[in-house]
Amino acid sequence: MSDSLAVAILAAGKGTRMKSQLPKVLHTLSGRTLVENVLASLSQVQPSRQLMVVGYQAESVRSALSAIPNLEFVEQTEQLGTGHAVQQVIPALSDFTGNLLVLNGDVPLIRPETIEQMLALHTQHQNAATILTAQLDDPTGYGRVFCTENSLVTEIIEHRDCTPKQRENQRINAGIYCFSWTALMEILPYLKADNDQQEYYLTDVIKDLSQVMAMDVDPQEILGINNRKQLAEADMILQRRLKDDLMLSGVTMINPDSITIDATVTVEPDVVIEPQTHLRGQTVIQSGCRIGPGSLIEDSLIESGSTVAFSVVNNSTVHGTCRIGPYAHLRGQAVVGEGCRIGNFVELKNATLGSQTNAAHLSYLGDATLGEKVNIGAGTITANYDGFKKHPTVIGDRTKTGSNSVLVAPVTLGTGVTVGAGAVVTRDVADDSLIVTRGERRVIANWKPKHQRPGG
Ligand code: UD1
Ligand code: CA
Repeated sequence: MSDSLAVAILAAGKGTRMKSQLPKVLHTLSGRTLVENVLASLSQVQPSRQLMVVGYQAESVRSALSAIPNLEFVEQTEQLGTGHAVQQVIPALSDFTGNLLVLNGDVPLIRPETIEQMLALHTQHQNAATILTAQLDDPTGYGRVFCTENSLVTEIIEHRDCTPKQRENQRINAGIYCFSWTALMEILPYLKADNDQQEYYLTDVIKDLSQVMAMDVDPQEILGINNRKQLAEADMILQRRLKDDLMLSGVTMINPDSITIDATVTVEPDVVIEPQTHLRGQTVIQSGCRIGPGSLIEDSLIESGSTVAFSVVNNSTVHGTCRIGPYAHLRGQAVVGEGCRIGNFVELKNATLGSQTNAAHLSYLGDATLGEKVNIGAGTITANYDGFKKHPTVIGDRTKTGSNSVLVAPVTLGTGVTVGAGAVVTRDVADDSLIVTRGERRVIANWKPKHQRPGG
């Protein structure tokens, strides 16, 4: 089947009802744009061509999707309707004789298995077209599908063009179609815009094709996104689905309703995710980790056996068996070695830590490279910014910094260095040295302020 299937995704519309500057298909759902979600529904079929019809803000849609391989863009310069959108792929498919799968770019919850079943049904019955339909309690807004008893479709009429009687029909058109391209080509070029919106409707081809079969699916799968309420509703459905799949694969979630996980995240079995935790982007959580409560992990790798509590981790790597938090912030390609402890109110930015290094309280480590078994005392700060440029700090193995010390970068502390509490370190320190920068202690006995002194 594979070399005879082409796909056209309709993504040229503005999405007026979204009330947004952003084209509708670039709004996100569980970490992926609407169109990327649509593309994900093709994972069980191997189309030989994937055509994306773009129009409104075509350039931003193209660049947002530029990393996706084998995607051909077709421009619909004026948005004259879904039928007109499909007409735009005719030149690209001039030699094509297989089936064309048409997907609305704003119907993002279709399961890959559903697409697979639809194509099987289409081939088995040699249909001219097979369409996905659902029975909705509230079909308002959708096109209504009229069928014979055998699920053979006679006609689709848009909600706004229906008579009150026709609106009682609860079977709706999902906007997902499989056409025999040769059959479609006999009708598609001749569409008329004789409807309420004066648009060329793709749905108008149906009454002239034979035979057209409808396949009823779970109404949740065919939710179309026209406004932000529907976007939020779809997100809830997708989140439920993603989390159910993860739990069935061996991930424990405590109060899953309070947790959000992007479709792009990988969580291995035997991870525990606690309440109010959010995993986003290209994040990977390896087996045996405990994440949360109250944490945000974005585009980061957390290796086996680590814990993260009440913390934020962005663009960073945490190696195995670390304890992160409470209230730590890792960002800017921070790399934390095996068995480290990063504790209360510690911020790491572009810092690399060797294994078993600790920064347990109230520190900022920016543009820093730390060796193994370093102990960063409470309140140690790398002063990495001179107002113009950022500078690096290097700290050798087993070095210990005292509380409230300031390391003024660029600066290198050797191995086994001890920094006294409150030191301001402005120059490099050799291996195995103690550095103290406090003034000598002076105690003046029986001291009083001037005005309290005799004769004062
Ligand atoms: C469409 C269907 C309707 C179905 C519903 C399912 C038609 C005429 N109606 O209605 O039967 O129940 O989807 O969600 O097809 N688009 C273009 N170019 C255009 C117009 C639209 O690319 O000129 C794209 C849009 O970006 C969108 C998709 O086609 O991704 C559907 O367009 P939309 O205007 O949302 O159609 P609906 O009114 O929802
Ligand atoms: Ca729509």
